[in-house]
Amino acid sequence: MILITGATGNLGQLVIKELLNNKAEFVAGVRNINKYNGHHCNLEYIDYDNLSVMKNAFKNIDTIIFISGNAETEHRIQQHRNLIDAAKQENIKHIIYLSFITVTDPHSKFSFTRQHIDTESYLKASGISHTIVRSCWYMENIKTEIINALDNQVFIDNSNTGKISFISRQDVAKGLAQIAINVNLQDRIYTFTGSAAYSMQNIVDLMNANCHKQIKYTLYSDNDYKKRLIDAKLPEFLAEAITLNRVDIDNGDYAFICQDVNFINKKLPLDISDYIFSICCTH
Ligand SMILES: NC(=O)c1ccc[n+]([C@@H]2O[C@H](COP(=O)([O-])OP(=O)(O)OC[C@H]3O[C@@H](n4cnc5c(N)ncnc54)[C@H](OP(=O)(O)O)[C@@H]3O)[C@@H](O)[C@H]2O)c1
Repeated sequence: MILITGATGNLGQLVIKELLNNKAEFVAGVRNINKYNGHHCNLEYIDYDNLSVMKNAFKNIDTIIFISGNAETEHRIQQHRNLIDAAKQENIKHIIYLSFITVTDPHSKFSFTRQHIDTESYLKASGISHTIVRSCWYMENIKTEIINALDNQVFIDNSNTGKISFISRQDVAKGLAQIAINVNLQDRIYTFTGSAAYSMQNIVDLMNANCHKQIKYTLYSDNDYKKRLIDAKLPEFLAEAITLNRVDIDNGDYAFICQDVNFINKKLPLDISDYIFSICCTH
């Protein structure tokens, strides 16, 4: 039996759809069962802050698809350790952990990198059999900026020439579900990326070519960019993390291209040019 955490989230719902399509036996771990309004499936109460609640949820579970939480770094480190402790105590056979591409950079400035490094090493030290999926930056993260550029003819970011091999949540979700279902794909470290990497100027060029626009790329300073994110109602810790992420982008941390997702999903991942085109067509 599979249990998926983060089941109410954007990614979790896509994984659940994949598990349903594959007729897999699973339960969705949710924090507030009464408020759940996602895909119809069996639910289990789970909270990363509560070890005994998780122990209870993990009874009769073999495999956990562990989608990283969204708290601040220090809090998240403890939450993830709680989950691994609970899994160990309940003799979980396998954990598939959704990690992040920057974990290979010891100098990463993105604050959540430290959390993912900690979770990966805590998981390894636990002795629980596990698979790690290091995901690149979701292409959906720049949807708001793409729409803003279509409306206002300017695309704003603070990264310079660094490239990102954007991946769609759908491709990550399909891959996580496939790994949970197919035991022969487990016990490895995968890196999920798109098939090509793009700078923000490349994204603007794609928009102009594919959507017949004349959008200009506008490079913001870190201070101005962070203020923009805070004005858009992002919590301060998240605005700070995303602003500093620019350093990792320009250092090339996100430019890495890997075929793992093609191998697991048996198809090419969505390219951001097609994603941009679909937004242009519907906006
Ligand atoms: N690769 C990228 O570009 C990228 C970008 C953004 C995020 N991420 C990571 O990927 C994860 C999934 O992305 P997403 O878009 O699906 O995020 P999301 O929509 O924010 O979903 C996060 C999920 O985590 C659950 N969660 C948070 N705290 C919890 C707790 N204490 N106990 C149990 N569940 C808890 C949330 O449950 P509730 O509904 O109860 O809040 C929600 O289901 C994120 O959490 C983040 O770690 C990656």
